Amino acid sequence: MQNLRIALYPGDGIGPDVIDQAVRVLERVQQDAGTFATTFERFDWGCDYFDRHGVVAPDDLVETLRPFDAILLGAVGFPPRLADHITLRPLIRIRQAFDQYACVRPARLLPGVPSLLAEPGSIDMVVVRENSEGEYLSSGGRFKAGTPDEVAIQSGVHTRKGIERVLRFGFDLATTRRRHLTMITKSNAMTFGYVLWDEVHDQVAAEYPDVTTDRQHIDAAAMNFVRRPAQFDVVVASNLFGDILTDLSGSITGSLGLNPSANLNPSRVNPSLFEPVHGSAPDIAGKGIANPVGAILSAAMMLDWLGLKDAAATITAAVHGALADGYATPDIGGELSTHLMTDAIIERIGVKVSG
Ligand code: NAI
Ligand code: MG
Repeated sequence: MQNLRIALYPGDGIGPDVIDQAVRVLERVQQDAGTFATTFERFDWGCDYFDRHGVVAPDDLVETLRPFDAILLGAVGFPPRLADHITLRPLIRIRQAFDQYACVRPARLLPGVPSLLAEPGSIDMVVVRENSEGEYLSSGGRFKAGTPDEVAIQSGVHTRKGIERVLRFGFDLATTRRRHLTMITKSNAMTFGYVLWDEVHDQVAAEYPDVTTDRQHIDAAAMNFVRRPAQFDVVVASNLFGDILTDLSGSITGSLGLNPSANLNPSRVNPSLFEPVHGSAPDIAGKGIANPVGAILSAAMMLDWLGLKDAAATITAAVHGALADGYATPDIGGELSTHLMTDAIIERIGVKVSG
C-alpha cells in the first residue's frame, strides 16, 4: 500500500470549491483501487488568511510544504479584495523554490464538449511552459516612484541552462506523442533572450532527429492556435508566452475550466504542484457553478506523477465518460452545479481501465 501525503492549498474564489471536488474524487478512486492511502493536510492561505494575519501565507511556507509528496492547489488571487502581486507571490515562490521548471498543460478537445471554434478539427496538444525564470523573475525596480519622472524596469531573465532543460523536457515528451515540437518566442523583436532560445533550440533539436520542429513567434502562434490548432503537438514556450497561450488553448478546447496543469520538478528532489490552469474566477465565485474538471484532471496528473498510473487513468476515463454523456456545467453549455458534475464523474469510477 502506497501512502501519499498531499498538501492542499485551495486558495481564493472558486479554488476551494474545485479542490473540495478533486478531494472527493481522489477519495473515491483510492477506495476503489485499494492500492494507496492519502493523508491530506489543508492550508487556508489566501485573502481570508491575510485578513487574520496580515500576510497571505506564512514566510516559511516553502519549508512547510517540502515534506509532502505533492501539492494540490485551487487558485490564488481575488482582485476585489487584494492586489494580485500580493496574492500570487506565494505560488510563484513555490514554483521557483522547488525548481518546478516544467509546467505541463495538456489541452484536448474531448468528445461531448463544444469548441468555441466553428471547425476545430482534432485538438490534442501539450503546452510546456518554462516555469522558473523568464519574464516572471522579479528582476527590475522602480525609480522616482510616484513622481512624473517615474521609471519602471522589468527584465526577463533567460539562462542557457533554463532554456535547455525545458526544451529537453519538451523533446522527451514529444517522443512519447506525435513527435512534433513547436517553440514559441519573439526573437524577431526581443533579440537577446529569445535569440538565445533559438540557438539552444537548434542545438537540442539536433539530438532528437525523430522529432520535427518549427518555431513561431507569439503573435503568429496566437493566430494559429485559433486557425490551425490541430497542427500543434508539444508546444514549448517561455513563462509569459506559455501563460498566455494556455488560456487560449483552454478556450479552444471548450473552457478554461477543463484544463489541468502540473508544475513539475523533474529531478523529483522537491514536491511538484498540480493545479487547474484557471484562476479564482471572481465573476462566478460563490455561485457553485465552477467547472471542477480542471482541478479533477490535475489530481489525475498528480497520481500519474506519483506512479499511480491506473488510478490516474481511472479518473481521466471517468471525466471523459461524463463529458461524452453530456454532463456539463454552465461554462460548457450545461446546467450542472460543481457538485453534481462531480457526482457524474464519481459514478463512473467503478469502471476499471488498464494501462
Ligand atoms: P480566471 O481564470 O479566474 O477567469 C477567466 C474566465 O474564465 C472567467 O470568466 C471565469 O469565470 C472563467 N472560468 C475560470 N475558471 C472556470 C471554471 N473552473 N469554471 C467555469 N468558468 C471558469 O482569470 P482572471 O479572471 O483573469 O483572474 C481572476 C483571478 O485569478 C486573478 O486574481 C488572477 O490573478 C488569478 N489567477 C490565478 C491563477 C492561479 O492561481 N494559478 C491563474 C490565473 C489567474
Ligand atoms: Mg495564467
